[in-house]
Amino acid sequence: MVEAFGFGLGVAFTLVVVVLHFSKGTGRTIPDDISQEVLEQRAETVPETDFPEPMNRAIGGGAAPAGAVGAGEETGELDEGEAEEEQSPAAIPDDEAETFEVEYEKEGETLEVPENQTLLEAGEEQGWDLPYACRQGQCISCGGQVTSGGGSEDYLAHDGNEMLGDEELSDGYTLTCVAYPTSDFTLATSESP
Ligand code: FES
Repeated sequence: MVEAFGFGLGVAFTLVVVVLHFSKGTGRTIPDDISQEVLEQRAETVPETDFPEPMNRAIGGGAAPAGAVGAGEETGELDEGEAEEEQSPAAIPDDEAETFEVEYEKEGETLEVPENQTLLEAGEEQGWDLPYACRQGQCISCGGQVTSGGGSEDYLAHDGNEMLGDEELSDGYTLTCVAYPTSDFTLATSESP
């Protein structure tokens, strides 16, 4: 009796497995290219902007937006222009540097200062104990004043002045650690606005 029940149970289980194997299922199909579908859905969620996307963020491979500066000759010209503007007088070779007469009023001497040397360095070469601190145009310790009349930049070029404003420059003040002569003049050292 028990054996017949077990046999019947086994036959029933086998039949269920066979029926499930041949059934069609839910009929759900998987899209051919699911990644493309996901990309399109994401693209729809990106908000519209009225400014050009940077080249490396543009959707679809990164075509350069209209008006963008190309990597060609335009940037080359810009770099060249900037390089010319930023060239320090200190970069002028010694054998090409023009020399100017600077009268150091308080020291009682007139020095021949080349255009690639600062007023501070020229005085120090004489052994004068001139004041300074940062030597980068970022304080006022090395201040001096041109006493030849007019603004200091009529007689010298600053390379790195971060302290003196237009008014102080037109009063003749200079930061001698970053000041290179461009003309003859008289200088009073240890003078600050
Ligand atoms: S030493 Fe600081 S600005 Fe000249």
